[in-house]
Amino acid sequence: MWKGLLAQYREYLPVTDKTPQLTLMEGNTPLIPLTSLSEEWGIELYVKVEGANPTGSFKDRGMVMAVAKAKEEGSKTVICASTGNTSAAAAAYAARAGMNCIVMIPNGKIAYGKLAQAVMYGAEIISIDGNFDHALSMVRKLSETSPIALVNSVNPYRIEGQKTAAFEICDALGSAPDVLAIPVGNAGNITAYWKGFSEYHALKGTGLPQMRGFEAEGSAAIVRGHRIENPETVATAIRIGNPASWDKAVAAANNSGGKIDEVTDAEILAAYELLAKREGVFAEPASCASIAGVMKQVQSGEIAKGSRVVAVLTGNGLKDPDIAIETKKIKPIVLPNDERIVFAHIEGVVLQ
Ligand code: F0G
Repeated sequence: MWKGLLAQYREYLPVTDKTPQLTLMEGNTPLIPLTSLSEEWGIELYVKVEGANPTGSFKDRGMVMAVAKAKEEGSKTVICASTGNTSAAAAAYAARAGMNCIVMIPNGKIAYGKLAQAVMYGAEIISIDGNFDHALSMVRKLSETSPIALVNSVNPYRIEGQKTAAFEICDALGSAPDVLAIPVGNAGNITAYWKGFSEYHALKGTGLPQMRGFEAEGSAAIVRGHRIENPETVATAIRIGNPASWDKAVAAANNSGGKIDEVTDAEILAAYELLAKREGVFAEPASCASIAGVMKQVQSGEIAKGSRVVAVLTGNGLKDPDIAIETKKIKPIVLPNDERIVFAHIEGVVLQ
């Protein structure tokens, strides 16, 4: 039986006899082959479905490690800035560990499902009239002068936990893929995957993928080469203008023969719809930056035909129902509770 990340990957993680055995059975997420899109694009495409984690995003991998270490080191409270998913994961693992959790979020700019999670897991929620970058800078300062543990991805334990997704991909495929495509926001996750692939390769000779990271065009600080004061994108999870792990993301891309690129909101939403309708996989908009990026770079020839590609789907589509309903032109039709009318509609419209 799967035992959760800290037990499963103990030898690769900073776990000691004193580390609490915290888990919500995170990790072990599906790697799904996208048969239809693979055929259309002439590549071998898989998605790593991180939305299958306990709180619906990849953050659980990092948070189980960071919260366990915070508890081991004697903290009673954890704090984070978040565009939503980090706050959900921090709140859940703090609840599980019997700790307090404070989350700082950009007012009005987080998906409703994520807010619902933070509320239910009992976090202290502070919503600021600012963006993620402002919130991160505040919580960093606060944690420097107080016993509160910071659990954003600037905390190295977060990266340690998140690197395990790379191990799972290598185990599932028998080796690293040719290309790893991943959304980039604060740039912690691309850093973690690169660390994971590099460590596994050193130990087991699994090979190294090209790391291809994708920012949203309106928040593409790394691509532009300067920080974005007012980042914007429909993909609120990656609405970040000053990525904390900027240098590490650039190093991962450069050292692997990959690239940090950007995708537009229109490309993100097109990928979001395509993935759900063609493959039956529903991921939140930010996650679909990876699919949009693969589509773009297959067209440009940067991703070679025949490549084995893994795209990371970082969060579950259910996190952000508002965007789903807004995006689709087809809305549910409302009919009277009358068999004749309902059947006539189906015969006339659906079965045509
Ligand atoms: N995808 C999703 C769904 C995310 O929630 C995030 C980051 C990313 C991608 C980008 O990952 O920051 O490691 O480059 N969300 C953070 C949060 C910022 O607060 O939940 P990254």
